Amino acid sequence: MSELRLDGKIVIITGGASGIGAEAARLFTDQGAKVVIVDIQEELGRNVAVSIGKEKASFYRCDITEETQVENAVKFTVEKHGKVDVLFSNAGILDPRGSILDLDLDRFDRIMAVNVRGAAAFIKHAARVMVEKGTRGSIVCTTSVSSEIGGGRRHGYTASKHGLLGVIRTACGELGKYGIRVNGVAPYALATPLTSHDEETARQVEEEFAAKGVLKGVVLNARHVAQVALFLASDESVYVSGQNLAVDGGYSMCRSVNVQI
Ligand SMILES: NC(=O)c1ccc[n+]([C@@H]2O[C@H](COP(=O)([O-])OP(=O)(O)OC[C@H]3O[C@@H](n4cnc5c(N)ncnc54)[C@H](O)[C@@H]3O)[C@@H](O)[C@H]2O)c1
Repeated sequence: MSELRLDGKIVIITGGASGIGAEAARLFTDQGAKVVIVDIQEELGRNVAVSIGKEKASFYRCDITEETQVENAVKFTVEKHGKVDVLFSNAGILDPRGSILDLDLDRFDRIMAVNVRGAAAFIKHAARVMVEKGTRGSIVCTTSVSSEIGGGRRHGYTASKHGLLGVIRTACGELGKYGIRVNGVAPYALATPLTSHDEETARQVEEEFAAKGVLKGVVLNARHVAQVALFLASDESVYVSGQNLAVDGGYSMCRSVNVQI
């Protein structure tokens, strides 16, 4: 038996051009998968695919808010590889902190369109192919600690991640009869282009959240999150479904009223 944890698996990774998704593309291919990187950042996404190697990784430009593009991304994968074993639905955007009293509803609609509707569209089309081909697939969605707790004054983001968790749970309930598992991976804050635009802000993000975190002595990075996504994607988690596995050093369990976020 192969020691590679995703040997022969065909994986779609949304948001694979950057941050957690790009790290997952590297880790998953190291573990024997062939990945299709889906993103709106074409140049970055192509570069990630090229750096991994064209035998193992390809790029497909797709805006997940457009259902036809989502459907076409899944079709591209099936035409290229014949099936979809794993969907790592990871693309997401963040909104700035602000008061609910000044909530920008256009921004709110946009974040729901990407983080909830876009993920739901991908689950729909990837699951259709899994069902059609009889694939006992694994769907893993990047949620956030903000899918389980409030605070932080990011109203759109928190609502979107709570909504995404709802989609994960209902999809798990329905897709289990086909042998398809659906889980979330819920990171604490980490420095990626989502949260920081240069080395200086990345350092500030790491310092701020290390100070607020519960588990000391580890600074969360994209590899840590990708490793948990790998577990959920692989057959090692064969009887795990409907979970939202926190990668937060205990933060969401132990958060106290003293912690200001
Ligand atoms: N960085 C954090 O602190 C953190 C914490 C918890 C959860 N997350 C979640 O992790 C996931 C990955 O984020 P990241 O931190 O790696 O950020 P990132 O910005 O590096 O990656 C997100 C990717 O999603 C892509 N994307 C955005 N909108 C898209 C769309 N409409 N269609 C296709 N692709 C689109 C972006 O182009 C980008 O490449 C997100 O869902 C985010 O909410 C991040």
